[in-house]
Amino acid sequence: PRNIYLSRHGESEWNVTGQLGGDPDLTVRGRKYAKCLSTFIDSEFTKEGKELPLVWTSQLRRTRRTVEHIPTMNLCWRALNEIDAGVCEGMTYKSIAEQLPDIAHERKKDKLRYRYPGGESYMDVIYRLEPVILELERQRGPVLIVAHNAVVRAIYAYFMNKSQDECPYIDIPLHTVFKLTTRAYGAEEEVFPLEI
Ligand code: G3H
Repeated sequence: PRNIYLSRHGESEWNVTGQLGGDPDLTVRGRKYAKCLSTFIDSEFTKEGKELPLVWTSQLRRTRRTVEHIPTMNLCWRALNEIDAGVCEGMTYKSIAEQLPDIAHERKKDKLRYRYPGGESYMDVIYRLEPVILELERQRGPVLIVAHNAVVRAIYAYFMNKSQDECPYIDIPLHTVFKLTTRAYGAEEEVFPLEI
């Protein structure tokens, strides 16, 4: 499609505690973002008299709740779920550094290729996103994707021609919409930090 809108989910309970993964719900702030996102989509489409975009989320609660005010059908992809942190799911970076220092060390050395024991690497995420990217490329109309930090990084990197090595470090803040406009070569971006 010409326009791809990318966002992370609204703030979750585990964003506040700093825990990785899981299936936490949104906080009050996160629910406010869900409303702001719906207002933003409304101003981009309905007010312009255009049809709403397709809305794709992960299968996790925090992304599904983030799109709940957008009055359109949405598709939940397992492939859009957050990177699986394996044995580190539910831990904070501090507790990983203290209790599993080898993991913290090895991941720092090669964040792109490091696979969490029992989980995934960024490369694993990049591979599992292939069907989503293929389907995205086939779409003629706009698509809004609401996913997670690592997943949005990988999709953003693909369309913005960033190298795989840069991908794990791209800054994708919460409560921000990235609007990508695809062209024959590469894409342009507009960034909308939404007031909450
Ligand atoms: O839960 C996963 C994080 O949002 C991804 O962050 O890959 O920079 O550790 P990281």
